[in-house]
Order: sequence, then structure tokens, then C-alpha cells
Amino acid sequence: MAYANQSEVFAMIVIQGPGALSGELSVQGAKNSALPLLAAAVLARGETVLHNCPRLSDVDTACRILEHLGCRCRWQEGSLVIENAATCCEVPQCLMREMRSSIVFLGAIVSRCGEARLCFPGGCELGPRPIDLHLEALSRLGVEIQEEGGCLSCAAPRGIQGSYIPLSFPSVGATENVMLAAACGRGTTVIENAAREPEICDLAAYLNRCGARIYGAGEGCVIIDGVEALYGCEHRVMPDRIAAATYLAAGAVTGGTVTLTGVDNTHLLPMLPPFEAAGCAVRQMGGAICLMAPPRLSGIRHLRTMPYPGFPTDAQPVVMAMAAVGQGTSVFVENIFQNRFRQAEELGRMGAKIKVEGRVAVVEGVEHLTGAQVQAGDLRGGAALAVAGLAAWGTTQITGERHIHRGYQDLAGSLRALGANIQEAP
Ligand code: UD1
Repeated sequence: MAYANQSEVFAMIVIQGPGALSGELSVQGAKNSALPLLAAAVLARGETVLHNCPRLSDVDTACRILEHLGCRCRWQEGSLVIENAATCCEVPQCLMREMRSSIVFLGAIVSRCGEARLCFPGGCELGPRPIDLHLEALSRLGVEIQEEGGCLSCAAPRGIQGSYIPLSFPSVGATENVMLAAACGRGTTVIENAAREPEICDLAAYLNRCGARIYGAGEGCVIIDGVEALYGCEHRVMPDRIAAATYLAAGAVTGGTVTLTGVDNTHLLPMLPPFEAAGCAVRQMGGAICLMAPPRLSGIRHLRTMPYPGFPTDAQPVVMAMAAVGQGTSVFVENIFQNRFRQAEELGRMGAKIKVEGRVAVVEGVEHLTGAQVQAGDLRGGAALAVAGLAAWGTTQITGERHIHRGYQDLAGSLRALGANIQEAP
């Protein structure tokens, strides 16, 4: 399959600031939904067509996994078509390492093939990311798991057996893995303390359209009645709520007015309080949202990341970039990942005053930031640097664009469409 987006060849983003953004932007499909949907396509016989699938390097990696398994993937008129002919049950180490969330293929492969071999995805930029909840849940479904030299050999000799799965934490990935494994299992599976993120609902909607019987997605208890087989279908990937938050933050930090279309306003509600606390006026109408920012933002006071419907950890870095120029003090408490303040140090190079102590970051808003050479260390942290660069005086050079390209379909082009002076450079 041809690479999804040619902007991958760029290494750097260069922003000339400041400048108020204005205009309208249509938001991409959700990365965090597309990836489990692509894993789910392994279960569905025949053809799956994903509309509104974002063109991202992570989607490209998922397609390479699918092709390794024996499927064929192609882009057709903006939609991603997957022809399922999976025969192989192994994901090579290089692909597992490229994308931590590839672990979500485990449940689908072991259900489809009766066995699966893949390597531990390992830690990542956000700190250690264990998969103990995934493995514990799968073993309750009758999957025998052996670990050797960083690789997992999984087998379900008697097939997937429905079971009661209490999760000690509502892990998004573990909930998805269980749904994928159990959809074609024998009997009923009940996930207690399931993740309630909208991406879980999107996955359930796709699987149910393929013939699965999944009830309660989006609630704390998900019930899966196993069915014999699933059949491919057409599905529209839900809008990306984190990309939406990023463009809202970009509008806010520049004192601009932006309208985003193609969003699901219900999903955006938990993210709006810090924008309102910063003094922005937000109007939601149908599938669109409009943000009008004051010339100078206020601090956002207090933000705690929590599982949905709390404030999402993925949107915390871009809001921190806003708080960096908001008048007053803002306090961030990160409850999901250990190492999610990596953007703080780089924002510091631009003049931001941020003190990090474990899971807490205290931001003293400054009058303005100054352009600098900074490094994107992870996807959302990289987006935060871009947001800050739009507000900073002078030139900001962000290296490590490959991180940003994992999750944003043409971030630079989208911001340019809103009037930003932003280029990609080799
Ligand atoms: C998904 C999202 C990611 C988002 C995160 C939290 C995708 C592709 N990624 O990641 O963007 O930041 O949800 O909303 O959808 N944990 C364990 N053991 C496990 C699994 C998780 O201890 O077996 C811990 C993790 O280390 C982390 C927390 O639980 O501290 C949340 O992880 P989880 O909800 O599983 O996130 P992901 O599915 O990896």
C-alpha cells in the first residue's frame, strides 16, 4: 500500500508567530478509533470499508500489520478498504515496536486464528505502559499465554470462552482487546469497570454492524454475547476529539475565532471547562463548534486528567500550552500516565514558566512566549509545541515532526488554512 501522506518526508515544522487564527476547519477522523477498528477488521470476513479514516503514519503501521497477516489494504476515494484474507497469526517485532497500541491486535488475532505470536510493545515516551490487564483478561477468556524473551505466544486451544472480566482500571486498550477477543467467542462475556471512552462505542458500533452482539458500550459494564462469525461492512470513523481540542487550543492561544466542523459535540463537552475558564466563549451547534478567544487568556486554574467522561490525558499538553500564556496560575494533575509533561521543558525554552513535581505541574502564565528551537518528544507534546509556536514572538522550529504525523493528518496545512504562518521543512 502506498504511504498514506507524503508530508511524512518532512522533519521539521517552522512557525512564524504570533498571529490570530480565524476561519473554519473540518476535523479528521479519530486515530484512537481507527486503530482498534483496523484490528477488528481481522475478525470480519470479506471486505471492510472505513470512511473518514485519517491518513496517518499510525494508520499506515496498522495497515502494514494487516498486510503481514495476509489482508489487503487500499485507499479508494478517501476511504480505506480492507480485504480480509488473514492467515498468519504473527506480528513482527519491528511493527509492534513502531506503535504501542498494536497490542490491540492480540485479541482479534487469537480469536480469528486460535493462536497469536507477538512481541511486547514495551514502554513508550509516556512512561511504562504495562499490558498486565490485557493479559489477565485474555487468560480469563481461555487464552493460554507464554512469555519468552520479550515475546508472547498465545493459544486458545478450546476457542475463546465467555467470562466475567473485572478490570481494576478502566483501560481503553484492555477493554478493546476483550471486546475483540470475545465478539466471536462462545457464550457471554461481561466486562466490569470497562473504559467508557467514545472510541469504545465506535468499536462496538462497527462490530455490531458486522454481526456482533455487544451491549452497554460507553457504560461501565459491557456485555458481549459471542456470535459464530462477523462479516465486513462500511463504517464511518468517529471524529477526532483530541484533534478538535488541539485546533481549539490553537484558536484560543492566538486570540482567534475558529469554527470546527464534523465534530461530535457530546464528546467535546468534558474538554470545554478549561477553555471557558481561560475566558473563551464556546458555542456548540449541530456538528460544529465555534470558539472565540479574548485578546489575553486567563489561567485555567485547575485541570485533572481522568478516564472519560473526565478530561482526557491526550488533550492535557495542548491546554498546558494555552495556560503558559494565560494570566495567573494553572495547576495540572496528570492521573493517567507517569511521563506526560515532557512538553513542559520544551515550552520552557520558549519562555514558559512551568514547574513539574511528579504528577503535578504548576504553570505561571507569562505575557508572551518567544520562538525557539524545540523538539517534539511525543505526539501530543509535539502538538502542544505547535500551539505554543503560534502564540510565540518570532520563529519556532519544531523537530521530530514524525511524532506529530502519527496522529495529525496534515497539522501544518490545517493551521495554515486558519491563517497561521507555518511550514514544513526537510
Ligand atoms: C489509549 C489511547 C491513548 C490515551 C489512553 C488513555 C489509543 C490507541 N490510545 O491508550 O491515546 O492516552 O487510551 O485515554 O486508543 N495500564 C496498566 N495495565 C494495562 C493497561 C493499562 O497498568 O494492562 C495503565 C497504563 O499504564 C496507563 C493507564 O492504565 O497508566 C491507561 O492506559 P489505557 O487506558 O490502557 O491506555 P491505552 O489503551 O494504552
